Amino acid sequence: MTTRAAASCPICGQPARTRATVCGGPAIALLCNDCRQQAMAKGRLSVQFCMGGCCARAGARPAFEALLDSLREEDALEAVSVVPVDCMDLCQDGPVCRLLPDRKTARRISPAWAARLGKDLARDRRARRK
Ligand code: FES
Ligand SMILES: [Zn+2]
Repeated sequence: MTTRAAASCPICGQPARTRATVCGGPAIALLCNDCRQQAMAKGRLSVQFCMGGCCARAGARPAFEALLDSLREEDALEAVSVVPVDCMDLCQDGPVCRLLPDRKTARRISPAWAARLGKDLARDRRARRK
């Protein structure tokens, strides 16, 4: 695993590191330190979104952007974390993501579905608690 500072955090735009993926494709732009710390808070609603090579080839990028856009529209990017991650060993079903703390996995995600997910998460009462 190699890291280097070359990209910007997909959430806030601060400089962030990238990480090469295990299944090829473009390197993953990781969260900046601030966003990562926020994302790791216990019990927090978050979406681990696979940006590995196979998922990227299956259309993860537009779905990931659609999720971020919809959370941004709902003003919920502070309350719900989106974390780009590497391969989750579900390459056949990509794009995939895992919802925490519920531990649900979603497969073959389309941008439209991702946008709906963002709206649903923004309305989740756990996202409003603060
Ligand atoms: S690249 Fe996404 S599950 Fe393997
Ligand atoms: Zn950030």
